[in-house]
Amino acid sequence: MVNSAPFPPLEVVILAAGKGTRMYSSTPKVLHAIAGQPLLGHVIAGARELGAKAIHVVIGYEGEKVQQAFSGQALNWALQQEQLGTGHAVAQALPQVDDDSMVLVLYGDVPLIRAETLRALTRRCTPDTLALLTVMSSDPTGLGRILRSPEEKVVAIVEEKDATPEQRQIRETNSGILVAPAKRLREWLGALTPQNAQGEYYLTDIIAMAATAGCAVNSVVVEDELEVLGVNNKLQLAQLERHYQARRARELLLTGVTLRDPARVDIRGQVECGRDVEIDVNVIFEGNVELEDNVSIGPNVIIRNSRIGSGTQVLANSLIEDADVQSQCSIGPYARLRPGTQLADGAKVGNFVEIKKAVIGKGSKVNHLSYIGDATVGEHVNIGAGTITCNYDGVNKFQTVIADGAFIGSNTALVAPVSIGKNATVGAGSTINQDVEAEDLSVARGRQRNIKGWKRPTKK
Ligand code: UD1
Ligand code: CA
Repeated sequence: MVNSAPFPPLEVVILAAGKGTRMYSSTPKVLHAIAGQPLLGHVIAGARELGAKAIHVVIGYEGEKVQQAFSGQALNWALQQEQLGTGHAVAQALPQVDDDSMVLVLYGDVPLIRAETLRALTRRCTPDTLALLTVMSSDPTGLGRILRSPEEKVVAIVEEKDATPEQRQIRETNSGILVAPAKRLREWLGALTPQNAQGEYYLTDIIAMAATAGCAVNSVVVEDELEVLGVNNKLQLAQLERHYQARRARELLLTGVTLRDPARVDIRGQVECGRDVEIDVNVIFEGNVELEDNVSIGPNVIIRNSRIGSGTQVLANSLIEDADVQSQCSIGPYARLRPGTQLADGAKVGNFVEIKKAVIGKGSKVNHLSYIGDATVGEHVNIGAGTITCNYDGVNKFQTVIADGAFIGSNTALVAPVSIGKNATVGAGSTINQDVEAEDLSVARGRQRNIKGWKRPTKK
């Protein structure tokens, strides 16, 4: 995405001082997550896409927690000590805003607003006009109503609590999002009074001031109501999560990805897909995930910050985290790839196998019930069922190295540090604590003894 700096310069003010009483939570409202990212994070990301010169966030309730959650980001913080209304909130940020900027007001709890919509809105603001985002609400209860003149010009916003019964019939409502020239905004905010039903300084009152001063209010009507829906409770949070996920699923479908059920995939980050990728139901992607051509993902799979190479199959109920998987591999069902796993072309990791910080070479197989950690496994190695790398002595971690072509019999304990040479064979049930040289066979288990005609004890 190219960030084209708008002209005149754009500054964004995000209101995030509210408590969110109806969330019944000790977490500030804007830190509740959609797709694993705080609501406010979504809004900030949208603002960044616009190429804003500065982003100001107005905080109040648990403001420190909010700041902490975004520490290290280029943001200006403004504190609103008391929540005296949306107009008062914007006024707290204005001292840091340049006179010749356009100010875009956003809400920390309105997460699904799209940069595209905001771009269209900012284009409607000039040094002498104001741009307002409105919406036709299926249920306008509680929202500010848009009052228009007979010529259809926006002349004022009236809050529900201050509205007459006739005004309450109006379905066009205020999204709260607007763009105004900083200089004028400063004047208007300075003139606000709390003479209204809620005793608050309403940002919405600037609309009538602008209209009266001959400053046209250009409106953009957003089509998707949920795009401007604010989160006030967990029900709305859940609705917006689903709406967001539906959007993401739709994007994948339209780029050619097969989703067995678009309602049963969750994307909490970025997913990049090649051609002919197939994704079964109940799959979760987190962080940055890359699926190359012809990858297929089975049901109930979770993939986090990983690349899956072309033609690889991930079978049901597998969990893959910080792993790099090359082409034509097979993973699962029920496999767990932990951070630092690397699978080379054609490697197979089967059911109930856990891999951690280990490289599995080309065509090598770890098919059943094994733990391979802190290990380097060469090419075409066969690791039998129930093999464990004993990598930890309770204090330190040690490496296991298995060279190309080795064969590890089932139920083997490899006590690290240890290495198994090229084409070496380890007999099943061995506990290996000394290196095995190339081409050798090592058997380290109690020798079998058969006792002829032995009688079991009988009851007296
Ligand atoms: C506001 C609008 C209303 C609009 C609605 C859309 C006003 C007066 N009314 O209603 O026209 O239809 O949004 O959802 O603007 N906030 C602060 N400090 C404050 C007050 C609010 O930071 O002192 C923040 C809140 O955290 C929230 C946002 O501003 O994120 C909106 O506040 P809220 O009380 O939800 O808005 P309403 O008054 O319901
Ligand atoms: Ca309010």
